[in-house]
Amino acid sequence: MSDDKGDVSRRDFLKTVGVAAAVTSAVQASAAQAGPAAIGPGDVPITLTINGQRHQLSVEPRVTLLDAMRTRLDITGQKRVCDRGACGACTVIIDGRTYYSCSMLAIEAQGRNIRTVDGLAKGNALHPVQQAFCDHDGLMCGFCTPGFVMATVALLEKNANPTPEQAKRALDGNLCRCGTNIGVLKAALSAKGVTRG
Ligand code: FES
Ligand code: FES
Repeated sequence: MSDDKGDVSRRDFLKTVGVAAAVTSAVQASAAQAGPAAIGPGDVPITLTINGQRHQLSVEPRVTLLDAMRTRLDITGQKRVCDRGACGACTVIIDGRTYYSCSMLAIEAQGRNIRTVDGLAKGNALHPVQQAFCDHDGLMCGFCTPGFVMATVALLEKNANPTPEQAKRALDGNLCRCGTNIGVLKAALSAKGVTRG
């Protein structure tokens, strides 16, 4: 009696496992069908809007926004220094917020308004922040400068008269190895006439 019960129980168990496995496979197959289409690893066409201009290009999905701009589009204002989100030299403004372009994929930046230091000057007239950096010796070798300038622009577009503490906090994602921080801070506190870009 107990053997019969055991046999029935084993058969039921095996049936249950079989059904569960079939259901799991079906669910996985349908999830795979419903998920986003795989892209890459080869080049894919993308469109980026940078400094108000639309650019169509093809890049592998692994390419960062910084590399796409610098090596494919010849937009070289933002610098590649650490390439790992530690120094801020690659800082861009996207939809009003600062981002490290070395730490964002180019395909992620589609459909967004990307701004770099290349788009700040109007002809020969420097942007007020660029002028303030010159006036206050906010640069030496210049590798960090485009990132600092964009971080400062983003700050002043939100807050035209920051306190020193607010400016320090807004710029604390950027590093200068030449030690221009005092000049950068003076520039950020003195630049006037920054309007929303
Ligand atoms: S180059 Fe992007 S944070 Fe340093
Ligand atoms: S000016 Fe040289 S790293 Fe800042």
